[in-house]
Amino acid sequence: MFFPQFRARRIRGNEVFRRMVSETTLSVSDLVYPMFSAFGTGIKKEISSMPGIYQQSIEHIVAEAKEVYALGIPAVLLFGIPEAKDAIGSDAYCDTGIIQETIRAIKREVPGLAVITDVCMCEYTDHGHCGIIKDGDVDNDATLELLAREALSHVRAGADMVAPSDMMDGRVAAIREELDENGFDTIPIMSYAVKYASGYYGPFREAAESTPQFGDRRSYQMDPANRLEALREAASDIEEGADIIMVKPGLPYLDILRDLRNEYNMPLAVYNVSGEYSMIKAAAAHGWIDEERVVLETMLGFKRAGADIIITYHAKDVAGWLKKG
Ligand code: PBG
Ligand code: ZN
Repeated sequence: MFFPQFRARRIRGNEVFRRMVSETTLSVSDLVYPMFSAFGTGIKKEISSMPGIYQQSIEHIVAEAKEVYALGIPAVLLFGIPEAKDAIGSDAYCDTGIIQETIRAIKREVPGLAVITDVCMCEYTDHGHCGIIKDGDVDNDATLELLAREALSHVRAGADMVAPSDMMDGRVAAIREELDENGFDTIPIMSYAVKYASGYYGPFREAAESTPQFGDRRSYQMDPANRLEALREAASDIEEGADIIMVKPGLPYLDILRDLRNEYNMPLAVYNVSGEYSMIKAAAAHGWIDEERVVLETMLGFKRAGADIIITYHAKDVAGWLKKG
């Protein structure tokens, strides 16, 4: 059927019809809000490149967690900034480490809010890499053991879900085994299955103080040029026991998100990363774009590409805008 029989505008002519034929919906239940917990007290320091996002000590994190919960956002994703860093990232798997204490505080004060933890070494190592170093590169197999210990200590402290972001081979299996052996076979793993070596993480590294002190992450994170490799990464994580798979960053990789949606019947998450947030915030601050409109359109783009879960620094704003309706 072609024009004049077909007229696409017939179903666009009024709001009721537009609503009836709308294909994609965005809900507050889709959102996860990332937070940065800093060692100490009385800390609330805004990340200069991420307006509205803070490094904060536990009492402030708890206060914000209450706000997040009241907005109807189901979960937070926690990152830790420890008191001290060392070569083997000791604070990451210490039962009284920064994240472990933060998890306990949130679960005590806001039990209904799901706590997901980022499982990685880079926030805890003095060299800033995502594992332990041998001969100038991250030692994959030696790192697995530490990641498993880290995940277990998060779950012992009360984490509801763990999210490994390190990109070591075999880490999902190592974590699954460790959790199962210790009686935590009901705790899901959301794996950063497809994580690219991206310039869009720049602002995050200021927030988490996790910039690599030498080299870069290209020996473990993916090459932005690769699409087929994403399918292999996802397949291996699913095989190893991932419950949710993630694509990261979001906007430059919507094709990958759609590929995974078409290929796998797994829950799919996307990480709308720091640099994506900073760009929108900067343009909005200049009055160059309508922030609400652009952010909601971006979120809808993730849903349309196939995401079930959106991890985003915009979560609180989005929740507010959705409420306003
Ligand atoms: C740690 C980690 C990073 C992000 C999430 N977990 C940074 C990195 O890999 O360098 C990035 C998140 C963001 O940019 O918002 N491995
Ligand atoms: Zn890392």
